[in-house]
Amino acid sequence: MRTQVGIVGGGPAGLLLARLLGLAGIEAIVLERRTPEYLRARIRAGLLEQGTVDLLNEIGVGARLNRERLIHDGVELAFDGQRRRIDLKALSGKSVTIYGQAEIQNDLMDAHEAAGTPIVYEAEDVSLHGLTGETPHLRYRKGGKQHDITCDFIAGCDGFHGVSREAIPPDVLRVYEKVYPFGWLGILSETPPVNHELIYNNHERGFALCTMRSLTRSRYYLQVSAEEDAAHWSDDRFWTELKGRLPPDVAAGLVTGPSIEKSVAPLRSFVAEPMRHGRLFLAGDAAHIVPPTGAKGLNLAAADVRFLAEALVAHYKTGNAQLLDGYSARCLARVWKAQRFSWWMTSLTHRFPDASPFERRAQAAELAYITSSKAGQTTLAENYVGLPFA
Ligand code: APR
Ligand code: PHB
Repeated sequence: MRTQVGIVGGGPAGLLLARLLGLAGIEAIVLERRTPEYLRARIRAGLLEQGTVDLLNEIGVGARLNRERLIHDGVELAFDGQRRRIDLKALSGKSVTIYGQAEIQNDLMDAHEAAGTPIVYEAEDVSLHGLTGETPHLRYRKGGKQHDITCDFIAGCDGFHGVSREAIPPDVLRVYEKVYPFGWLGILSETPPVNHELIYNNHERGFALCTMRSLTRSRYYLQVSAEEDAAHWSDDRFWTELKGRLPPDVAAGLVTGPSIEKSVAPLRSFVAEPMRHGRLFLAGDAAHIVPPTGAKGLNLAAADVRFLAEALVAHYKTGNAQLLDGYSARCLARVWKAQRFSWWMTSLTHRFPDASPFERRAQAAELAYITSSKAGQTTLAENYVGLPFA
């Protein structure tokens, strides 16, 4: 088999790329190790920057998003029993969109089914070969048979636990990592959200986030220890702990109900450099992970893929390799800004078990400063809504 671009991974990054290439008349095959049912059901974050919404509209998968999304012009920070709203729209000129990233996965899969994009699900033992030569290729097994695809380029869109990043020799790859001493316990419930906008709560019992998927479906998160087992959290225990971390007026309005899903996710910051090795290009979680505070994961993946598609289109249409050569540096400039913001938002809103009394006082002062100064609010707002594309 032969194709122009072999894509490893059929998550948001791989499917967005396949769509952008397909629309430009460039052939691609996607190799995905899971089943379509698994991908469609996977629960993810729910906040989109306008740039991501624009990209989905440009590639013709925005119809349901435009119908169902909620637009938020502001976001709240709560601390010391007080609530402070950051007016994102007034400060940055932009809003954010609430729409489940799981829904985007579904919308992309529907679009690819209609377009007939070759996507191989349940591809086993995917491996990458000949990356620094002229004809890189992908090998995989399916239904007991071995397959080999020769490509012009390979896109590694296989997430943090994928094989693409590992195919870059260790003496070439540099990794930067920070693991946080806590995780997020999240639940989804068929209840109206406690507030019409998100509330990020810094409380002495730990961080809590009130978010939503729709006007009838809420998503709440609690900071817990990284080793916490979701099985130890009954719904009652979760709701009681959440109420204890919210300002009294918010807690009083909380509507509780049975959880549909409950799970713990660790928090990590991670960047792999460079994002290109020979004819392999990494995009999305394969190259970088952010802690979820600020929900930059999918938005960053969308930015990578926009740059990568632009570079591949330039290569095929004009033979100019400048954008391909600049891909890694261009992505990383944006990635590091989002890393810095996600780390900062995490530091500002969470309780660190090893924080000294001095650090704790400084955190409280920073919250007071950020929420009371126009400059402070603006710096939060412009990063939260998404920095401009360079
Ligand atoms: N072979 C084939 N496919 C693989 C392999 C492999 N060895 N390893 C992983 N995959 C697949 C996974 O099953 C998954 O579907 O690659 C896909 C990677 O998808 P994501 O982990 O969602 O990563 P990405 O597409 O970069 O999405 C970025 O979107 O939904 C958000 O929170 C998510 O921050 C993440 C962002
Ligand atoms: C979510 O809705 O799941 C969400 C929103 C904002 C975040 C993280 C997660 O910062």
